[in-house]
Amino acid sequence: MIFPASSSPIEQYLEHLHGKFARLEDGDVATYIPELGRANPAWFGIAIATVDGQVYEVGDSRIPFTIQSMSKPFVYGLALETWGLKHVLARVGVEPSGEAFNSISLDPRTGRPLNPMINAGAIATTGLVPGATRDERRQKLMELFGAFAGRDLTVDETVYASERDTGHRNRAIAHLLRNFNILGGDPEEPLDLYFRQCSVAVNCRDLALMAATLASGGVNPATGRRVLQPHNTGRLLSIMSSCGMYDYAGEWIYNVGMPAKSGVAGGIIAVLPGQLGVGVFSPPLDAKGNSVRGIRVCRDLSNDFGLHLFNTPRVVTPALKNVQTAAESRSRRQRGKTELDLLRRHGHAVRIYQLRGRLIFASLEPVIRAILADAASGSHLILDLGHVVDLDRASCRLLLDLRDRLIRLGVRTHLAGATDQATLRDYVVSRQGEDGWLQLCRFETRDDALEVCEDELLRTHGQSAAGPAEVPLGDQELCRGFDVAELATLAARLTAVELPAATDVIAAGTPADAMYFLARGEVGVFLTTVQTGEQLISRLGPGMSFGEVALIDRQPRSATVRTIAASRAWRLTFAAFDGLPAEGLGALQAKLVANLAHVLADRLRSANAEIRSLK
Ligand code: DON
Repeated sequence: MIFPASSSPIEQYLEHLHGKFARLEDGDVATYIPELGRANPAWFGIAIATVDGQVYEVGDSRIPFTIQSMSKPFVYGLALETWGLKHVLARVGVEPSGEAFNSISLDPRTGRPLNPMINAGAIATTGLVPGATRDERRQKLMELFGAFAGRDLTVDETVYASERDTGHRNRAIAHLLRNFNILGGDPEEPLDLYFRQCSVAVNCRDLALMAATLASGGVNPATGRRVLQPHNTGRLLSIMSSCGMYDYAGEWIYNVGMPAKSGVAGGIIAVLPGQLGVGVFSPPLDAKGNSVRGIRVCRDLSNDFGLHLFNTPRVVTPALKNVQTAAESRSRRQRGKTELDLLRRHGHAVRIYQLRGRLIFASLEPVIRAILADAASGSHLILDLGHVVDLDRASCRLLLDLRDRLIRLGVRTHLAGATDQATLRDYVVSRQGEDGWLQLCRFETRDDALEVCEDELLRTHGQSAAGPAEVPLGDQELCRGFDVAELATLAARLTAVELPAATDVIAAGTPADAMYFLARGEVGVFLTTVQTGEQLISRLGPGMSFGEVALIDRQPRSATVRTIAASRAWRLTFAAFDGLPAEGLGALQAKLVANLAHVLADRLRSANAEIRSLK
């Protein structure tokens, strides 16, 4: 299957589900309402809406169909909101019936229907729609559905007429409810309103947003409007979980684990509180009156995205800790002035997304959205999982799909800090073997990945990432602006030293008496803490200096500097520095200190960026 270049892994997955079940031809379109029999069995749409209003939809997601029984929980919510729990409970119970939707299951003594999801309970609930006149009640109902969907909805008059003219069983139920005084007045009026509420035309997108409104505690995520109080939303969802799928409800909550409701036109809505809403539409129904494809889609969605209510964290913490670019956050490898300038100018092309906490569908989805929206503005992307505590299989799948998508969009994408993620490891090894895992986890830390991205960026801009093999004294960063005489004065006070690899040139805690200009090779700056032991915090190459901080404050060494490769350096003792001309000859001391101030300012900026990334 070919996906549009910009589509997200979530749409891609929905396309995959759609393709997988479109071929499933089991089930029959409902015909007991003649007009419903005209539905095309091939119609098939899927939509999911997040609690911040993002909708993903595939297939026939904009084809209108009638809401049917999926209207029942919403009207129940309206009844609760209008009359309060006690009043409503006196007229409609909350026990599952384990019977078909149109069963006539009333309490033999009181006539009270078992629950508001079977027709008897739903018609009784419709009798509670507030309004002084028939028109007011109709309007109230349409306002209710419109507020949940976030747009004005209309009644499909043809389906309504068909249902009104053939709904003899529902008519019998309404009259029985009148007999028990559950309905007052003329039972034909609430019955007519019930036929209307079942005939409201919706599409998959509407359903997903209606479900997402329930998922976000009664606030429509698209309009921001509160439609239902949180406590009533909770009651409504409870009824959906126990009675929403009729006598399939037990198996449904066991396997899919989301409060849901089906309708005979082929729709299903499902709600994962705090996370998302689902709307599926496919007319062929199984023997229990639920959409065949709808059930299969919800089952797969729940399994693949980890959406089971009892198997997903209660609190969703945002997964995105921060986003930085290589213009402000650099690797521990210190670079020379030319490279630094280049990274400052072009570093925005390298983006670092730092993730944190537990990754699940709901926490990762907004990150995927943000990354894809921004994909065109960068050439490199690092997904730093170093602060991720745990991730489920759904997140593994989404992360890898995202990586593939970005790579196909031409963004060089690296995962970093993933080495300890056992679930991710299992997931990758089971699909791509050990080699796949090693390849994916090539970068142990964000810093490793960042250094490679910086190198690539430098090369793209015609700069060798390795830097020069040897930097003469005149090109050292602390000697910028020195004239020939000044260089000669300084050189006269320097001692050249050859340093084999793995030599401690400076030891943390010891008194300081000299600084070094690195001519060739490489040194590392190491810091030791109780928590982390010894850690490499910075790497320096030719042209850079070390041990120079103590030149300013003459305090003992705060870090250890060790050669990583065999190196050559010039050593300047502080005594020799103190003897440099302070005046005349270009005020050598002042010039050197001014250059040093520049270098330190730059390091401070980098350190600040790093501190920001830790917050
Ligand atoms: O009461 C009826 O016959 C329909 N208008 C609603 C039925 C329905 O959607 C049952 N649910 N699956």
